[in-house]
Amino acid sequence: MARKKIALVGAGQIGGTMALVLAQKQLGDVVLIDIPQTEGMPKGKALDIMEGRSVMGTSCNLSGSTDYADIAGADVVIVTAGVPRKPGMSRDDLLGINCGVIKTVGEAIKNTAPNAFVIVITNPLDAMVYNMQKVTGFPSNKVIGMAGVLDSSRLACFVAMELGVSAEDVKAVVMGGHGDTMVSLYDCVSVGGIPLSRLMSKEKFDELAKRTAGAGGEIVNLLVRGSAFYSPATSAIKMAEAYLLDKKSVLTCAVKLDGEYGVKGLYCGVPCVIGANGVEKIFDLSSSMNDAEKAAFANSVEACKKNADWVDANT
Ligand code: APR
Repeated sequence: MARKKIALVGAGQIGGTMALVLAQKQLGDVVLIDIPQTEGMPKGKALDIMEGRSVMGTSCNLSGSTDYADIAGADVVIVTAGVPRKPGMSRDDLLGINCGVIKTVGEAIKNTAPNAFVIVITNPLDAMVYNMQKVTGFPSNKVIGMAGVLDSSRLACFVAMELGVSAEDVKAVVMGGHGDTMVSLYDCVSVGGIPLSRLMSKEKFDELAKRTAGAGGEIVNLLVRGSAFYSPATSAIKMAEAYLLDKKSVLTCAVKLDGEYGVKGLYCGVPCVIGANGVEKIFDLSSSMNDAEKAAFANSVEACKKNADWVDANT
């Protein structure tokens, strides 16, 4: 069986970290792609990881390029191309600049890798993945956004820290848009199979949910130059792995809703099943959500719609 090919468009902080993780997990051969102004950077990162393969115990090949033609034939394309936020900026402040980047990259993917599963990370996420699907014209099960996996992992981390337990044993669901309006579900957190309500008050959970909604900004303020990259990278690889290995993983991803949650034609973060056919199922939790959760989700959908409308009006 031929090795899988994974193209990473954007070879910056997240792109470089994803290349390392992909090599360690031996998921396929990797090509890192960036703009010509970065000169040798994508080639340098690829070669650097290649030189570590003997100690890592992996045989994947990595290469770097500034030519979109090298996306050709990719099974998976993960897009971080664009600019990250600086302190004081919201993700929405990146809308104008990153929308143009996604258009260029989307056209290249459409022409060179028409069968690829596309994962978008560029912010503002929900609008950028909406734009990517529009530009490529790919079916919506093959174009998704990475945000919910990360937001859910952040909440799981804070719950684990609070309880003094392994983060690995905490599972959480944070849905909605990837911004201040994201919604953390109290009764969807489990700790080693135990519902969180048996271990933590709703008041304490609300504090952790608030920290989760601001977690990206907390990192931006600490890093000063750039935004989070280790956890976004590992979150995206979890999604790529689910697709490449047909795992049927239940992950919260930005997917195009088609009537679920009463929403049609809009990308928003919801729990779904990822396997060899991309998005294979969307779980509609709306009938079991309480009124406060429903209202918070509707508010988040509204935020996604505002940015999607901006994309429609400006592209
Ligand atoms: N084609 C390919 N690469 C591009 C393009 C383009 N048209 N435009 C910009 N890039 C590259 C930049 O040159 C840079 O190397 O995208 C890379 C982005 O990397 P970083 O600036 O290090 O940003 P990173 O932290 O990786 O975040 C990327 O993900 O989480 C989001 O908000 C974040 O939108 C940002 C994106």
